Amino acid sequence: MKELISIIDVPKHVGETVKIGAWVANKSGKGKIAFLQLRDGTAFFQAVAFKPNFIEKFGEEEGLEKFDIIKHLTQETSVIVTGTVKEDERSKFGYELDLTDIEVVGESNEFPITPKEHGTDFLMDNRHLWLRSSKQQAIMQVRNALTYATYEFFQQNGFIKFDSPILSGNAAENTTDLFETDYFGNPAYLSQSGQLYLEAGAMAFGRVFDFGPVFRAEKSKTRRHLTEFWMMDAEYTFFTHDESLDLQEAYIKHLIKYVLDNASYALETLERDTSLLEKYVNEPFKRVSYDDAIDLLQKHESDEDTDYEHLEHGDDFGSPHETWISNYYGVPTFIMNYPSSFKAFYMKPVPGNPERVLCADLLAPEGYGEIVGGSERETDYDVLTQKIIDFGLDPKDYDWYLDLRKYGSVPHAGFGLGLERMVTFVAGTAHIREAIPFPRMLHRIKP
Ligand code: 4AD
Repeated sequence: MKELISIIDVPKHVGETVKIGAWVANKSGKGKIAFLQLRDGTAFFQAVAFKPNFIEKFGEEEGLEKFDIIKHLTQETSVIVTGTVKEDERSKFGYELDLTDIEVVGESNEFPITPKEHGTDFLMDNRHLWLRSSKQQAIMQVRNALTYATYEFFQQNGFIKFDSPILSGNAAENTTDLFETDYFGNPAYLSQSGQLYLEAGAMAFGRVFDFGPVFRAEKSKTRRHLTEFWMMDAEYTFFTHDESLDLQEAYIKHLIKYVLDNASYALETLERDTSLLEKYVNEPFKRVSYDDAIDLLQKHESDEDTDYEHLEHGDDFGSPHETWISNYYGVPTFIMNYPSSFKAFYMKPVPGNPERVLCADLLAPEGYGEIVGGSERETDYDVLTQKIIDFGLDPKDYDWYLDLRKYGSVPHAGFGLGLERMVTFVAGTAHIREAIPFPRMLHRIKP
């Protein structure tokens, strides 16, 4: 099969005769001409079959038979097509195939997902087939590019990949969202974040990152929540909080730039406004404290175009507040130093202000919400032990984690990126369920 080329490589073969393995996404034409929309996962493009050419090449009988096969192809039939590559400015892809031969590989029955509109539930029930549509494929291409760029960024910046476990004996974030399972007679939990293990890794290697699935039994039915999602956690020693935000900003810019440079076809398919993405790469992100953000929200709450609820200092933001703030600045915005009461136990207090912690959430503009959460970690053994108790947790469960503060504790910080949130933001998709191949949500575990 090495002789087969991918559709995305078609531009390199103008004027040549090529063979492509593909699926028929759609078909049109009449009389002597047939148009096939082909897809192979790398791109979509059109092949054109002209009856007289087939007759000329194969003779009357075989030529007509072949052309007849083309006319009766059903959606999602798999084929190997042979043809000459031509430039075609009228088509979106810019090239088309002058078909000279076709071989059917696998027939397709009535494909449930047709080019007409379908309801979301129907599409989600058929997720295994929906993934073949152009928009879904483009989103997965963006996801793939973000994954590649993540490895690239961290390897280039002196981090080593350090895999944290999925099964854990303690909670990483909180005890309310834990998926519990039986581990040979004892409770175990599915990881909510690899962070605590990464802190052990950071004390061994200096800079580490992991990248894998995490689980949260969140009963929220929003367009931003999954119960299983992919998180990239990074942890690094001898970083101040500001330096940590610099690193996060460089990483997010690297991701966006990589997608712009390497997945432009997908962004075009998604009709993403790339001038905005370019702006996020080129302009500095905004950094604002939680308390300043509350002041700003209060100041603007009676403006004509605002529709968020009044907040007091100490209240948590809802998504209308997050959307308003990030739109106000028009670039990704770090909200720093939240109240300790609604953040995790491991965060270090702001010096001189124990009510606030040295953390930041990065809000994406255009209403895509929080994409990153990070903080500087508490380094003192006694303070951390007390925090664990105050949060209603048992220090015995965290003995190994507390050990890290006993043997050469150093300032360190880290953050976690939710891959699917980043995918929705970069791809410009409204709902997180389209950002992962098989989404797991409150009422969805199949397919
Ligand atoms: O802010 P979070 O909860 O941070 C942590 O878990 C830290 N331990 C990370 C660290 O410091 N190493 O989650 C990090 C990110 C969020 O910013 C968001 O992008 C994503 O994970 N996230 C979710 N994505 C989809 N569905 C959910 N239910 C999510 N919850 C968090």
